[in-house]
Amino acid sequence: GQTQRGTGPTLGFTPIPTSTADTVVVPQGYRSQILIPWGTPITGDYPEFAPDNDGEAQAQQTGSHHDGMHFFAIDGSSQDGLLVLNHEYVEPRFMHAAASGLTLDSEGFPQNEDGSRDPDQVLREMNGHGVSVIRIRQSESGQWGVVRDDFNRRITARTPMMLSGPVAGTEHVRTKYSPDGTMTRGTQNNCSSGVTPWNTYMAAEENWSGYFANEDTEIDRRQSRYGIETRDTGRWNWHRAAGGDDEFIRFDATSRGASAEDDYRNEPNTFGYMVEIDPFDPDSTPVKRTHLGRFAHEGVIFAPAVEGKPVVCYSGDDSRFEYIYKFVSAQPYHAASADGSLLDEGTLYVARFNDDGSGEWLALAPGKNGLTPENGFADLADILVNTRSAADHVGATKMDRPEWGAVDPENGYVYFTLTNNSKREEDQLDAANPRAANGFGQIVRWQEDGSQEAERFQWELFVLAGDGEDSRDLAGNPLGEEALLACPDGLCIDADRRVWIQTDISDSSVNDGIYTPFGNNQMLAANPETGEIKRFLTGPIGQEITGMAITPDQRTMFINVQHPGANTSAEDFAQGRYLSHWPEGGDTFPRSATVVITREDGGVIGT
Ligand code: FEO
Ligand code: CA
Ligand code: CA
Ligand code: CA
Repeated sequence: GQTQRGTGPTLGFTPIPTSTADTVVVPQGYRSQILIPWGTPITGDYPEFAPDNDGEAQAQQTGSHHDGMHFFAIDGSSQDGLLVLNHEYVEPRFMHAAASGLTLDSEGFPQNEDGSRDPDQVLREMNGHGVSVIRIRQSESGQWGVVRDDFNRRITARTPMMLSGPVAGTEHVRTKYSPDGTMTRGTQNNCSSGVTPWNTYMAAEENWSGYFANEDTEIDRRQSRYGIETRDTGRWNWHRAAGGDDEFIRFDATSRGASAEDDYRNEPNTFGYMVEIDPFDPDSTPVKRTHLGRFAHEGVIFAPAVEGKPVVCYSGDDSRFEYIYKFVSAQPYHAASADGSLLDEGTLYVARFNDDGSGEWLALAPGKNGLTPENGFADLADILVNTRSAADHVGATKMDRPEWGAVDPENGYVYFTLTNNSKREEDQLDAANPRAANGFGQIVRWQEDGSQEAERFQWELFVLAGDGEDSRDLAGNPLGEEALLACPDGLCIDADRRVWIQTDISDSSVNDGIYTPFGNNQMLAANPETGEIKRFLTGPIGQEITGMAITPDQRTMFINVQHPGANTSAEDFAQGRYLSHWPEGGDTFPRSATVVITREDGGVIGT
């Protein structure tokens, strides 16, 4: 390691044990409160949550599957702000549990006997996706609650969005909806998020390809490299909603008309981006910033902005053997005038991790690293819409599923979680991805050479997750009981430099086989200097812990519990048995929700 070893931030709480209980556990002296479970009324007519809410009600309530999140303080307050969060997806079988005669396909998605979908169920699913902007406030008693306010807003899989940057207006994104290729509708599968230096929110489009069908026999790399293959059925089958509304049909990318302006063959090319949202302007149109690349964006993390220097941000592509990217703006940052247009011009790079601990950022730009028309990359828009193919071409390092990143505010170290990769084989190992059939994942960190926009860096592994001799902490020792973790995913570094790690062992394997020692998914805190790790929170059954926001005074922390009870089998579901009843208990079906964490003594979280 090249770090100067200091003492680092304190981890002053007593670590808690692993848990298999259907509840949230925090350390002694801490308390937790449930906030905004799926279906909480936040805008419009404020319809109360009911299992049989319709699609229109869902558009006025929080979505499901809470994920990336940020607290935008109002006037610097730590008691009043806008909580902005992603709703990655929904679980249709829970969402439509109240519907009579529900027939589920093999993946738990409802469909009618003829393969069509109920249009209002589809509408509810689409409106259960996206982003919520919610004003929240802390009362004198310390409880947080929703404020019914004009800032509150739902952005969904239906919201009109602008395309911006080099791909906007090109042939790749012309559709029947937007013949000039400047607009698209909706965002979905928003996993993690980011906050720009000019205080806007960025939502990532991760597993968007699963929403599309395409019956064309030849599917080019703009879609095939992202997982779309010839099929008349998507995972969600929104295009099969009865009635044939254009808004549903667009999820079928089959070429049907004479040209791209006649159909939705290009609709998938308008997904796979980072979406910028200004939470303080409820009338603003979200903007898909295409220069940050097109892939399964997990999220984006900005390096602290420096006056007069380029803006730098990092984004991971969460699929097996995909890459870590960096964007450097062409124009310098000036606090007084900075806005999202800084993200429309610059250079996108992809990382190569050399086995000697050095690393290189390889530019994905016309004429660079073999990205020429002769090699199949016509221009910048073509490179960006085919980001994965361009990264393949330049020889970037194939990673074990890059998830979240975080930047140490003191020394600029960038951390990234690599959650797992069961498919890596012995002959595919490298120093940054050193284990075959990697079930446990690792965290890598690097320091840029000289300045944040440098094209070279030095890297090391911060932790190899797992248990026993296979795991390794920064000091080179196996992880102890208080630090056992697998499948790191969510990652944040607070102002005191505590590294918060959230885990996402898949709901199909949690508490089973090799994952038995780890219990339910959890959150831990690490010291970046010593590498010490301590378990801070454990979640209920079948969920992942994801998303994190902290108030400016660091006395309130928000995290999300996503998809509790998702490990409920089809058989149990059919019997009305849900493996989790969190957060309401009894025999209710489970709901994703935010958890607010404070200290009984009102102190700073984690100290
Ligand atoms: Fe949505 Fe990569 O987790
Ligand atoms: Ca994730
Ligand atoms: Ca994950
Ligand atoms: Ca998830």
